[in-house]
Amino acid sequence: MSTPDPIADRALSRASLADGNPTGWFDQLYTAAERGEAVVPWTRGKPQADLVTWAAEHPGEGRRALVVGSALGDDPELLSAAGWAVTGFDVAPTAVKAARARFPESTVDYVVADLLKPPGEWHHAFDLVVEIMNIQAMPCDFRPAALTSLAGLVAPGGTLVVSEVAEESTDVETWVSPPWPFSRAEIESIAQDGLRLADLGTVRDGARHWATFTR
Ligand SMILES: C[S@@+](CC[C@H](N)C(=O)[O-])C[C@H]1O[C@@H](n2cnc3c(N)ncnc32)[C@H](O)[C@@H]1O
Repeated sequence: MSTPDPIADRALSRASLADGNPTGWFDQLYTAAERGEAVVPWTRGKPQADLVTWAAEHPGEGRRALVVGSALGDDPELLSAAGWAVTGFDVAPTAVKAARARFPESTVDYVVADLLKPPGEWHHAFDLVVEIMNIQAMPCDFRPAALTSLAGLVAPGGTLVVSEVAEESTDVETWVSPPWPFSRAEIESIAQDGLRLADLGTVRDGARHWATFTR
């Protein structure tokens, strides 16, 4: 049996991006990992630690939440357990299938969708939108469209949580993308379409931005 390749994401993303496809490599990576041939580097088997802290202070009380880049389902399940009515979406069908299989009793609605072309009925529809380290996994050319789409998902009175690798804490000389880190100004630029920046700081000793926006 072969050993899973820990850096398969590098070759797959390079080939996909050379083809002008910013997201095709995600499903290829999940599929290769299912066959035991690759490692999905962001798979933790548990919810994102900073979101665990946030969720403990923000019970959902039945309100609607949307998790962007739901991967294998850990973050949607965390929010569901905190009382949110959760939709999780991912551009990779294999990830969506795996999340459903991992949590067969789940009330989370797992959906295949692309942040760059979200379903029209999601516009201004969610009381909470969570974007953690997904947009940074697409090249910067796609960022303005992704941020506009993201801002458009938040309902009136709703909250958007965003966390991305902070450019200010990276060594640009040695950094290998993906991901493509975010500057503080780019995080601030999410305040569009009526969205207001509520809070912007860092977590992990400055390594990641952590921002909340409200409409
Ligand atoms: C780097 S992983 C991060 C996963 C998770 N949010 C986390 O923090 O561990 C990026 C995830 O977003 C998904 N993704 C990438 N581009 C996307 C897009 N345009 N729309 C929806 N999902 C996307 C990928 O398939 C992958 O599961």
